Amino acid sequence: MAYLTFHSAGESHGRGCFAFLEGLPYGVPVDLGFINAQLARRQLGYGRGGRMKIEKDQAEVLSGVRKGVTMGAPVLLAVFNKDFRLETAPELFCPRPGHADLAGHLKFDAPIRDILERASARETAARVAAGALSRLLLAQFGIEIRSHVVALGPVEVPAGFSPAWEQLGQADTSEVRCLDAACEGAMKAAIDEAKKEGNTLGGIFEIVVQGLPVGLGDHTQWDRKLDGRIAQGMMSIQAIKGVEIGLGFRAARLGGREVHDAIQYDAAVAGGRDPAAAFRRPTNGAGGLEGGITNGAPLVVRAAMKPISTLMKPLMSVDLQTGEPYKADIERSDFCALPAASVVGENFLAFVLAQALCEKFGGDSLREMKANHAAYLEHLNRPRGGGKPQGGASDASE
Ligand SMILES: Cc1cc2nc3c(=O)[nH]c(=O)nc-3n(C[C@H](O)[C@H](O)[C@H](O)COP(=O)(O)O)c2cc1C
Repeated sequence: MAYLTFHSAGESHGRGCFAFLEGLPYGVPVDLGFINAQLARRQLGYGRGGRMKIEKDQAEVLSGVRKGVTMGAPVLLAVFNKDFRLETAPELFCPRPGHADLAGHLKFDAPIRDILERASARETAARVAAGALSRLLLAQFGIEIRSHVVALGPVEVPAGFSPAWEQLGQADTSEVRCLDAACEGAMKAAIDEAKKEGNTLGGIFEIVVQGLPVGLGDHTQWDRKLDGRIAQGMMSIQAIKGVEIGLGFRAARLGGREVHDAIQYDAAVAGGRDPAAAFRRPTNGAGGLEGGITNGAPLVVRAAMKPISTLMKPLMSVDLQTGEPYKADIERSDFCALPAASVVGENFLAFVLAQALCEKFGGDSLREMKANHAAYLEHLNRPRGGGKPQGGASDASE
């Protein structure tokens, strides 16, 4: 068994975007239709620019799959670009604020074009392909992921708006992926207004994961805590500037009594079919993670996306050829890519969770992983109590 890893290769206007996954077990059914459906979802959303009209993203499996299942070998997925013109794309000389243009040019001593081609969020097509494949593994363990937009520019859903799982399944029917009808209209109007002014918008999306077993991630080292790993995965998505788990920043303004989730134990259902059922949490302020370990409640992750950096009415920059002040360059661009980012977030979170799942139940084959999973659930589900000291104070200080 190998540690599950993902890397991407490719440029925005290069041959394509490539996802390299290593460490998937043998025998995961690969549904290319599902992967392509995720890629299509990434292309949607109100406020996107011209590029998405050119591309029709489809994944091709270049290695690691035979007869519809993973071979336990490295998997290489390709999403070829239609807008392939890397050698002829024009050079830029006025770096765009909010992009890697200037820092990358200075660091690599390379033309801005070479920096932006790799920094571009076109790379998220590779992430979604890899994430969709990870999602197929998660589905084998009953784990499902949904997302919706909770704020876009100045428009925000009402505090406490918390759609049920079934309702979350409707987010794809909204062009801004927002489930509050009044906000949906206001969000679209805000994008129209920004577009008219040559401006851009960002916002916040929320991802909910159901079916995670207790015990993914680890409290023992900083780099094994699943909350930290999720934050890294989300922050590494282009333009994501903040990540919250559960109440997140809101918890800082509340008391512990309002934030933490009481634990109820129902001995009558312990030993039954559902190991999570015996321990009930009437609230989920923790968002499904305590001490870096999943606690069996739904995982709730929010991510904040900054407004798109490329502005049609550009900020001032400098012409690197003359050293004189000049307007920042303009590349074809989205005005708001928040709905797409929400789909990227869902799928990349799937990769991070699949990595944790493989660590916990690791096996060389899906069958072995499932056997490990079943044995673990049985262990989890043993009735508690019977002679152990009950409760009492303990020292929880640092
Ligand atoms: C789905 C998606 C689409 C994006 N589209 C654009 C775009 O069209 N134009 C743009 O300037 N930035 C776009 N971005 C954001 C930039 O790629 C990103 O801000 C830039 O690479 C700098 O990285 P940083 O914001 O993470 O520091 C997009 C981001 C995502 C997630």
